[in-house]
Amino acid sequence: MARRRMVYEGKAKILYEGPEPDTMVQYFKDDATAFNAEKKDVIEGKGALNNRLSEHFMSGLNTIGVPTHFIKRLNMREQLIRTCEMIPLEVVVRNVAAGTMSTRLGIEEGTPLPRPIIEFYLKDDALSDPIVSEEHIIAFSWASQQDVDDMIALALRVNDFMSGMMLGVGIRLVDFKIEIGRVFDGDFQRLIVADEISPDSCRLWDVETGEKLDKDVFRRDLGSLADAYTEVAKRLGILPKGGNGTGPKLVH
Ligand code: TMP
Repeated sequence: MARRRMVYEGKAKILYEGPEPDTMVQYFKDDATAFNAEKKDVIEGKGALNNRLSEHFMSGLNTIGVPTHFIKRLNMREQLIRTCEMIPLEVVVRNVAAGTMSTRLGIEEGTPLPRPIIEFYLKDDALSDPIVSEEHIIAFSWASQQDVDDMIALALRVNDFMSGMMLGVGIRLVDFKIEIGRVFDGDFQRLIVADEISPDSCRLWDVETGEKLDKDVFRRDLGSLADAYTEVAKRLGILPKGGNGTGPKLVH
């Protein structure tokens, strides 16, 4: 079989040309990076866990009518996705102050916010993804006013869905990041959720204990990242609950 063509390699994923037009294969690596790749490691099993978790969130969103790029999972590390034209922004939704919002504005981590707050960051590694305003987005044509309105609406629907799903398994969705792409249907374009939704791109805190179950475990050296992601997957019923090692295991 001919070797498939790599389209793009990012810090945590690789995109390959897909088997049909307008599709790609998204491969989840075990690499973990933080602080614009200043901190790096390989976490065995992370790619397989994020593939499963992103499948779970994206297929749930598809089911309730929030469009995503996810088509189907192909194997332990790969999923088939719809090709889209990425908008060069990270859309962050925050329910509770944490991370850069806490440091930038001096709000103590864990302070509930009066309403979900949406922020946009420009995807540009050389600039370390700076925060930008709607004015910047429109003035520099990264997206139109209509796109901004649609991105906000999409992000809030994802927030409602994800917050509810997480609360159902005793986890608080503190904040998360999504990336959004355009697809064209004839003369019309619409926006869809793309990239991934996983504990790499969310903050997830246990409701009872406040324990962190997301990439902050790696960023802040709080313990085993694979254990934290496994806990999320078990609570969501993606992995068997028993922790005695006798059940099926994720393999590479
Ligand atoms: P922040 O507090 O570091 O700005 O992060 C806000 C949310 O966005 C948090 O859930 C982690 C996520 N995030 C990413 O997914 N990728 C990134 O590059 C950054 C900086 C944050």
